[in-house]
Amino acid sequence: MCKFHLLSYLLLLYSAALVAAQGSKNRTSLWQTLNGNAPLVIARGGFSGLFPDSSSAAYYLALMTSLPNVILWCDVQLTKDRAGICVPDIRLENASDIASVFKNRDKTYSVNGVPMHGWFSVDFTLNELENVPLIQGIYSRTSRFDGNLFQILTVQDVARQFSPPALWLNIQHDEFFSQHKLSMRSFVLSAFRSVIINYVSSPEVNFLRSILSRTPRTTKLIFRFLEKDTIEPSTNQTYGSLLNNLTFVKTFASGILVHKSYIWPVDPTLYLQPHTSVVLDAHREGLEVFAGDFSNDVLSAYDYSYNPVTEYLSFIDNGNFSVDGLLSDFPISPSAAIDCFSHISKNSSGRATPLVISYGGASGDYPGCTDLAYKQAISDGVDVLDCPVQMTKDGIPICLGSCNLIDNTNVAETSFSSLSRNIPELRPGNGIFTFSLTWSQIQSLTPAISNPYTEYRLYRNPKNRRVGKLMTLSEFLTLTKNNYFCFWCLDQHRECGLPSRKTAITCD
Ligand SMILES: *[C@@H]1O[C@H](CO)[C@@H](O)[C@H](O)[C@H]1NC(C)=O
Ligand SMILES: *[C@@H]1O[C@H](CO)[C@@H](O)[C@H](O)[C@H]1NC(C)=O
Ligand SMILES: *[C@@H]1O[C@H](CO)[C@@H](O)[C@H](O)[C@H]1NC(C)=O
Ligand SMILES: *[C@@H]1O[C@H](CO)[C@@H](O)[C@H](O)[C@H]1NC(C)=O
Ligand SMILES: *[C@@H]1O[C@H](CO)[C@@H](O)[C@H](O)[C@H]1NC(C)=O
Ligand SMILES: *[C@@H]1O[C@H](CO)[C@@H](O)[C@H](O)[C@H]1NC(C)=O
Repeated sequence: MCKFHLLSYLLLLYSAALVAAQGSKNRTSLWQTLNGNAPLVIARGGFSGLFPDSSSAAYYLALMTSLPNVILWCDVQLTKDRAGICVPDIRLENASDIASVFKNRDKTYSVNGVPMHGWFSVDFTLNELENVPLIQGIYSRTSRFDGNLFQILTVQDVARQFSPPALWLNIQHDEFFSQHKLSMRSFVLSAFRSVIINYVSSPEVNFLRSILSRTPRTTKLIFRFLEKDTIEPSTNQTYGSLLNNLTFVKTFASGILVHKSYIWPVDPTLYLQPHTSVVLDAHREGLEVFAGDFSNDVLSAYDYSYNPVTEYLSFIDNGNFSVDGLLSDFPISPSAAIDCFSHISKNSSGRATPLVISYGGASGDYPGCTDLAYKQAISDGVDVLDCPVQMTKDGIPICLGSCNLIDNTNVAETSFSSLSRNIPELRPGNGIFTFSLTWSQIQSLTPAISNPYTEYRLYRNPKNRRVGKLMTLSEFLTLTKNNYFCFWCLDQHRECGLPSRKTAITCD
């Protein structure tokens, strides 16, 4: 049984919290991770896609809605008085209201040789930060939880208040803090003694090497790769060249953390390229691989059709490899991918029982009601394929989502645009209707994918914008019959003057 809701990316938070946890099946041997166990979920700053990063609500929600062994991630920064706080960026204004609480205490410092301006933790004591609220630092996300709701937490606060199944400290900057006479090494070594730390990651080789001999056996050190042409400060090599030197990485780390594009590169037009061999190479070296920078609210590649679970599955259930962990701002979705959607065949008996009914076939992937949309829906495993029936001028019933050809074809750009009519009892405004053109005229049109969310600048797969062929009802019936599917003909378009009648037809 699944703990997660089908459409986890819709953030059905309340109901998700209410669903009782259920045992999951033993799928151990199926995973192509380094140790054969299911991949892990790491909640970056908690459920930071919704609540302010590293806030108590973000951590609580991550624990409530993720796999039971979810790992809480804290980006550690040091205060002037050597406290380790969880804040995502070296500049505190990135996710807190410090700029309005301490208006004139901004500074410019060199960070890894680059001048940066902002409010740095090294200039404040923990006491001073007590009245600085955490806020949402990514402006496309809700600011509803800004205000004075959430305090900055220390590493010890997170460990003690939430008793997480596992805690992951990311030390993004060590050199910067040394330049300010603050030692990350001392902080982390003393944290090892006061709380349980399961993972420590850093993009700085020297930092990891400096704590290696003092790290408890139960704590894993993870080397974080930054962009390929960025220079790693302790070796003077680029991260790209260190990627070809995993034997060296293995001398001080048990795993690597990479941006997801290291594994599945995306081209500039937002289509996936073939996967790299990074996971297989690292596994061969005995290194675990954690993939990062997943979030549900940024389009990563059209190939995923806006479904974050599909993206996670491509990292953990692709037949060739699985990463060992997924670092996400929305941990509910990788949890669902791992526990509910991995390793299920389309006709397996363990499948959920509700029927999957298409809308014009796979009309989010292809122009609706085309041969391509229907074939895609069939290969996706649809249970019920729909044909919204419309009539042509010569009396041929065809499948099309609307009687107005403007909605689904390029008719407005053709000479048939002169057939535009206003039929107020059908719809407001003008339309070019199926019953004004013959079937052969309609066949000369190019179907168009529908883009209902253009006002949010969300466009469906542009490569499929104008593809496929429309079908008559009779062609549709042939297609479904050959595939032994059941179907129904659904005319929901009462406004087109067709009788408002649903006909359910079952076949064999
Ligand atoms: C799960 O599978 C592993 C490896 O095949 C086995 O050792 C373990 O006993 C199984 N656990 C259960 C609960 O069946
Ligand atoms: C905080 O940092 C993130 C990641 O670099 C960035 O996307 C965001 O815009 C920053 N927010 C602010 C307020 O600086
Ligand atoms: C790997 O990196 C180490 C440290 O920079 C360097 O000493 C060694 O020569 C490198 N090995 C290869 C094969 O590049
Ligand atoms: C890295 O390069 C800088 C400047 O080129 C040099 O000062 C430093 O000693 C180098 N460090 C290592 C470890 O090679
Ligand atoms: C898996 O590897 C095989 C052989 O290298 C390749 O043909 C196939 O495309 C790969 N599958 C995926 C999903 O990458
Ligand atoms: C699906 O079911 C059919 C018929 O029962 C069977 O032949 C086929 O192997 C199954 N496919 C998978 C992926 O399980």
